[in-house]
Amino acid sequence: MSTQYQARPYRPFAQLLDLSGKTAVVTGGGSGIGLAISRRLAEAGAKVLIGSLAPERSGELVEAGFAVEFVRTDVSQPADIQRLADMAVERFGRLDIWINNAGVYPLKPIDEVDADFWDRLHAINTRGVFLGAQAAQRQMRRQQSAGAIINLSSICGHRSMANHCTYDASKGAVLAMTRSLAKDLSAFGIRVNSISPGLTATPGNLEPELLEQHRQNNVLDNIPLGRAAEPWEIADAVLYLVSPLSSYVTGTDLLVDGGWLLHGS
Ligand SMILES: NC(=O)c1ccc[n+]([C@@H]2O[C@H](COP(=O)([O-])OP(=O)(O)OC[C@H]3O[C@@H](n4cnc5c(N)ncnc54)[C@H](O)[C@@H]3O)[C@@H](O)[C@H]2O)c1
Repeated sequence: MSTQYQARPYRPFAQLLDLSGKTAVVTGGGSGIGLAISRRLAEAGAKVLIGSLAPERSGELVEAGFAVEFVRTDVSQPADIQRLADMAVERFGRLDIWINNAGVYPLKPIDEVDADFWDRLHAINTRGVFLGAQAAQRQMRRQQSAGAIINLSSICGHRSMANHCTYDASKGAVLAMTRSLAKDLSAFGIRVNSISPGLTATPGNLEPELLEQHRQNNVLDNIPLGRAAEPWEIADAVLYLVSPLSSYVTGTDLLVDGGWLLHGS
């Protein structure tokens, strides 16, 4: 670190949420939280490449006139992740933002969890996040430019619910990985943070089995704000963490949970 203090230039208000000229990759960006993130980043001026198993609703963003493209990607596959990073550069010339959003949340009681179930969930929720961050930082370092990586953890990385062991372990790993990546990558100007949504109204979370679990766990009664989040409320937190507004924030987790963690049950 230089011994001479040098003030950084004051950043005008209008630039705080401006992502024009940036390229963002969003995994699982055609549905739920990922779709809302893709829209918000595109609204802020970024070009967005969605990597997911299927296009799902990503076509809506293209129809709305945003610079959004889709590449079929299974985040558990190293070759798919590398192709996604390469395509960002090929299509849009650079890579500045990577959102590790794709994730699955099937639930099973402890006795029914076998090695295949455990490995498949962790291949997506844990290994997929690492592979994404690894590919992203490689390209950002090659460009010698600052970058932002966001990993989607969950309130379940902080507290436990019935039959959640496999999922909670994956989201706890995302929190630890975020801190570790942030430490290793800060020297290159790459910031790494995570977001922990609480209950969010997305297609994945509105499955009858999950809704029944939420009912049994009195989930809404335990959320101080008394409702689920809308996907765009999570996307707004992502926008903060990838924008110049958060230029001094790295290695942290932002809970967006309506106060659920305060409840403690
Ligand atoms: N919805 C919630 O209440 C909630 C709460 C906390 C955390 N989260 C986390 O937020 C993220 C998004 O959740 P969501 O509710 O929007 O889910 P969703 O099911 O609506 O969307 C998940 C997306 O990931 C994609 N995906 C799944 N497996 C993939 C794979 N192997 N490769 C590439 N893409 C894959 C799906 O196609 C889909 O586009 C997940 O990581 C989830 O764990 C969600």
